[in-house]
Amino acid sequence: MEPLIKLRNLEKFYETGFVKTFVLRRINMQVAEGEFLTIMGPSGAGKSTLLSIIGMLDGIWEGDFFFLGHPVHNMKKRQRAELHKQFIGFVFQSYHLIDDLTVYENLDVPLSYKNIKKRERDSLVCDMLDRFNIVGKKDLFPNQLSGGQQQLVAVARALITSPKLILADEPTGNLHTTQGEEIMDLFKSLNEEGTTIIQVTHSEKNASYGDRIINLLDGWIVDE
Ligand SMILES: Nc1ncnc2c1ncn2[C@@H]1O[C@H](COP(=O)(O)OP(=O)(O)O)[C@@H](O)[C@H]1O
Ligand SMILES: [Mg+2]
Repeated sequence: MEPLIKLRNLEKFYETGFVKTFVLRRINMQVAEGEFLTIMGPSGAGKSTLLSIIGMLDGIWEGDFFFLGHPVHNMKKRQRAELHKQFIGFVFQSYHLIDDLTVYENLDVPLSYKNIKKRERDSLVCDMLDRFNIVGKKDLFPNQLSGGQQQLVAVARALITSPKLILADEPTGNLHTTQGEEIMDLFKSLNEEGTTIIQVTHSEKNASYGDRIINLLDGWIVDE
């Protein structure tokens, strides 16, 4: 079977004047459908960069990237954005909620990109509010929430379309231990139902929920 993700000699660098600074070096990896993969490594290793490339949010890199066998390296920005919308739920390290939309409206955004009737959208948003215990926050704006609450909304927003692939950058970094465990348990059960998950974490405990670890150091995969 085609892997969900296949990267071949993927590289990314920034150029300042004549100096090339590499952020990712000759990345070769595959992720099969249904895996729960953890990316670890020190700050600055390239973890967030790699996750945004896999999430189709960053299109400036070299090498080959196949998604379900389709060559992402040949795609235009629009096609990548389409894949993102169709298949991927992304939890950003810094939440990326929309400031002038309420919690309710933020959760509705990914649904509004899809061909889903308003009534069904409402019921999906209400399910998520309920599941994440944030019903009471639905009319508040992100800046009226604590960091942990914003993180919960960000996770709920990533899951609301039942994406095939969840990419999560330190998804529990700002949560209390119990909240963090609840999110990890939720990821685990989604994974058991077939969702592919790639998480970035510094926590050995969070990593233990997954089935494989990739270590990044200075842009290189150092072992598996
Ligand atoms: N716009 C940029 N210009 C130059 N270097 C950048 C830019 N954005 C990120 N980097 C560099 O890329 C490296 C990897 O960053 P990142 O992927 O965020 O690491 P991690 O998530 O592992 O902490 C860092 O050294 C960072 O300084
Ligand atoms: Mg990062």
